[in-house]
Amino acid sequence: MNKKFFVTTPIYYANGLPHIGHANSSFIADFYARWKRLLGYEVKFSTGLDENGQKMVEKAEAEGKNVMERLDYVAEESKKTWQELQISYTDFIRTTQADHHVFVQKVLKKIYEKEGEDKDIYLGEYQGLYCVGCEAFKNPRDLTSDGLCPDHLTKPELITEKNWFFNLKKYAFVFEQLRKDNPNFVEPSHRFNEVKAFVQSGLENFSISRENKHTGIGIPLPRDEEQVTYVWFDALLNYITVCYRNDENGKFRDEHTEILHILGKDIVKFHATYRPAMLEAAGFRQPDKEFVTGYLTVDGQKMSKTLGNVVDPVEVAREYDRDALVFYLFYDVAIGLDGDFSRERFKGTREKMLIGGRGNLVNRVANLGKKYGVTKGKLHNNRRENSLSSLEIFKGTEENNHLLHLLEHSENLHSLEEKYLQYANTKSFVEDRYKLVQLANEYITKAEPRKKYKDEATRPEAIEDLEFLLRVIKQLGLLAAPLLINGFAKLQTILGNNQISALDSAVNGGGKGFEEAFAMKEFDVQLEPVIMYEKKES
Ligand code: ME8
Ligand code: MG
Repeated sequence: MNKKFFVTTPIYYANGLPHIGHANSSFIADFYARWKRLLGYEVKFSTGLDENGQKMVEKAEAEGKNVMERLDYVAEESKKTWQELQISYTDFIRTTQADHHVFVQKVLKKIYEKEGEDKDIYLGEYQGLYCVGCEAFKNPRDLTSDGLCPDHLTKPELITEKNWFFNLKKYAFVFEQLRKDNPNFVEPSHRFNEVKAFVQSGLENFSISRENKHTGIGIPLPRDEEQVTYVWFDALLNYITVCYRNDENGKFRDEHTEILHILGKDIVKFHATYRPAMLEAAGFRQPDKEFVTGYLTVDGQKMSKTLGNVVDPVEVAREYDRDALVFYLFYDVAIGLDGDFSRERFKGTREKMLIGGRGNLVNRVANLGKKYGVTKGKLHNNRRENSLSSLEIFKGTEENNHLLHLLEHSENLHSLEEKYLQYANTKSFVEDRYKLVQLANEYITKAEPRKKYKDEATRPEAIEDLEFLLRVIKQLGLLAAPLLINGFAKLQTILGNNQISALDSAVNGGGKGFEEAFAMKEFDVQLEPVIMYEKKES
């Protein structure tokens, strides 16, 4: 294995437990991690917790708890959440861990010790408005007319203190370079445009330390023991810490690794302006991509403890299934745009698209196949009409032809899949697959294998139809394998084909045979129909 892929979620603030908005970013990262494993990449997938900020301390104090004990609790609960949601992460970082401290201090020293007139890090006096919710100083022009932080609706504290600064202005050239070298660095592009506008409005040097009396937590600044590293400066380095932890060569940061970061629109400024400059200053390569997610509301309202409308993804996944949740989120919310979680729409989507669509298709084919003793899936090349492209409903657009091609000819999975992988197109990934499911359902209705089977003259045709449809459900199953993972596990049972059953998108090496399985035109099955997605009384 030589192709490598490194994907990350943001590290979530450890002042609370994961909610559906966090789960959304983790699902996206998980999807790409699994897809790349299936395509033969060795994958590192990191997630974790941002623990060094003032708000973690304030939260623990408000609850009368010891800070570290509370952080330990959040870490354990978060891991349970991600495991239950089958997030296939390989690394979990907590920024209070000793190796992260050592690493951040090393980077700081390296930047500090650089030669030159124009220092990268210097001491200054700072006065600013600090929002604890953002863990950031706010520019007065970004506040509401009442002087509140627009995201947290709280009044920032006026702080005057001695701080160390990072010379961001000196690194303005990094953005020019990034834009030239990697015009799709931030996706979707409207999010990249926002970053460009921010850079053009003029960069200000930013403070990288706080007086430690504020927090009692954080990474001591190597040269000044009265200061701790500003939480964002430390947090932004987490993705590198995990690469060098237990691997001094940092092989997941070499030039052969594709690096993708998933992050929210509220933190693009940090990831797409501060961080590239920090990486340049410290001599690290830039990542390849940043996919930026929007915000989720619940039934049109901002999620809040006070309103009691915070959606716990584990609770939803337990009541329904994990696949339905991820399917709904991808279908309903395009990456980059704000979205809304509605339990009604979620239930409707699950019933229509998963149970009525994919589940129904697989069940019909598997049940009839089993009943009629079908033992293989097959592409019958010589039967023109035995093809989904023969269906009227699907004729026409280039997009549809592209999809059909994918399903019926299955050549070069990589290039055909490019558009979903490169451009954050999780929504069309789901929509396109659903179109194919509908088409196959239409096909089975038209072909009427049950009726054909009754008449001895047309019985062989019924068998051929089912063989063809078994191949179709194999293709559709493989194409959705990184997303609908429980459904795929069911399909493995249903088909009973060894090569397909051996696939496992959760582990490196688990994609061995994936492309061959996709290309198989004829394959053995030992049908074992089981229900893919259960109907629920409601
Ligand atoms: O920002 N809908 O942590 P965080 C969708 N620790 N996404 C949401 C959301 C919502 N309602 N609420 C939050 C931090 N998010 C920092 C990150 S990375 C070096 C440090 C997303 O817990 C948000 O957009 O406040 C962000 O991408 C992520 O959850 C973490 O938010
Ligand atoms: Mg936040």
